[in-house]
Amino acid sequence: MTTLLAGATQVVTCRGPARARRGGEMADLDVIDGGGVVMADDGTIAAVGPEPELRQAFPGATVEEVEGVLFPGFVDCHTHAVFGAARLADHERRARGVGYKEIAAAGGGILASVRDVRERGSDELKALMGARLERLLAAGTTTVEVKSGYGLSLDAELKQLDVIRSLGSGRPTLVPTFLGAHEVPPDYRDNPDGYVELVVNEMLPEVERRGLARFCDVFCEPGVFTPAQSRVILSAARRHGLALKLHADELDGSGGAELAVELGAVSADHLAAISPRGIEALGRAPATLAVLLPGTMLFLGRSARAPARQLIDAGAAVALATDFNPGSSPGMSLPLMAMMGVSQLGMLPAEAVTAITVNAAASVGEASRRGQLAPGFAADVVLVALADWRELPYWYGANLVSRVWIAGAACHPRLGPINSKSSPESTQ
Ligand code: NIG
Ligand code: FE
Repeated sequence: MTTLLAGATQVVTCRGPARARRGGEMADLDVIDGGGVVMADDGTIAAVGPEPELRQAFPGATVEEVEGVLFPGFVDCHTHAVFGAARLADHERRARGVGYKEIAAAGGGILASVRDVRERGSDELKALMGARLERLLAAGTTTVEVKSGYGLSLDAELKQLDVIRSLGSGRPTLVPTFLGAHEVPPDYRDNPDGYVELVVNEMLPEVERRGLARFCDVFCEPGVFTPAQSRVILSAARRHGLALKLHADELDGSGGAELAVELGAVSADHLAAISPRGIEALGRAPATLAVLLPGTMLFLGRSARAPARQLIDAGAAVALATDFNPGSSPGMSLPLMAMMGVSQLGMLPAEAVTAITVNAAASVGEASRRGQLAPGFAADVVLVALADWRELPYWYGANLVSRVWIAGAACHPRLGPINSKSSPESTQ
């Protein structure tokens, strides 16, 4: 069935080359006033343009009247969405003035979620992640990158990646990333290089053999993995056929941005502690996007901000994502991240929209299929109850997404509870 979405006040197409937008290109959105979108029955977009022209060109199309502004489906290009319970004790400790790294040292932090994920069965993790994906969908997210990294043993990492695969045929399109090097597990505390060897010699070959991931990521951060260890892991990942990402310069800088560029990673993520040399490197990098996660610094109560303005002015390609995870960013809304991009990071509204659509798609290797409303692209479409697209990064705290289509099919998110009754507090 060919469907014409008609009646929108505007269609934000993000049309253009099938690649990331860099520097000044990020502000060029391509907005059609009074436009329509034609979705073909194969789940792709057949045409986008002024509505009267589309009505003439597709006389047999079923017309669906919509009210608001149409956008390409939003792409959340950095999440840690396979986890068990919320980390409510960490949140309260932070409010009492305890820092992220102190909380981790006291048994909270990433390792609390690791204990929790190791104990849960796949079905339970699947149910929790499924319920959370419905919420992301309701907020307009049609593609989600999901990392492992709360397993930190061969079996538990594979369990997380299997959960992602099993949900992959569900509604949002999932892009799996292996993040075995998210933290050093307790049994390797005195031998972190031994853990690096485990990741390289046992985990990566198995992840490749089972075809469980498209990307490999490492948490490169003082006190977690050094740039040298990150280089060893990512070089091995490349040999195993994975594209590369890096948690770089998140809390304290360690040259992560420069390393990501040197290795030709697809993205360097976080960057709140990036150096001037790192900004310059990303500004000139042919292949590496800067993925910024403003919800994380906000939720952690830190004043550092990723320098989005300087990065874009230096020529970099910037994307925005939620970092959705139970410790540092339990946020699920990309329009909210776009608002923070504008009000906290100095991005223009058009740049913020590019950052959650076309650039986010590029940062998960989907630039030729998603992130634009253009012929041949997936018919992933979001209707937002706005009169003007510039309101997307403006109204915050209310979900104004009113309808979502994935591959041309209308989605009706099932909104149930998103947390489990058993909490990891018992394990802290
Ligand atoms: O992106 N930086 C490392 N990983 C997450 C935090 C995960 C957690 O605290 O559980 C992040 O901020
Ligand atoms: Fe992260």
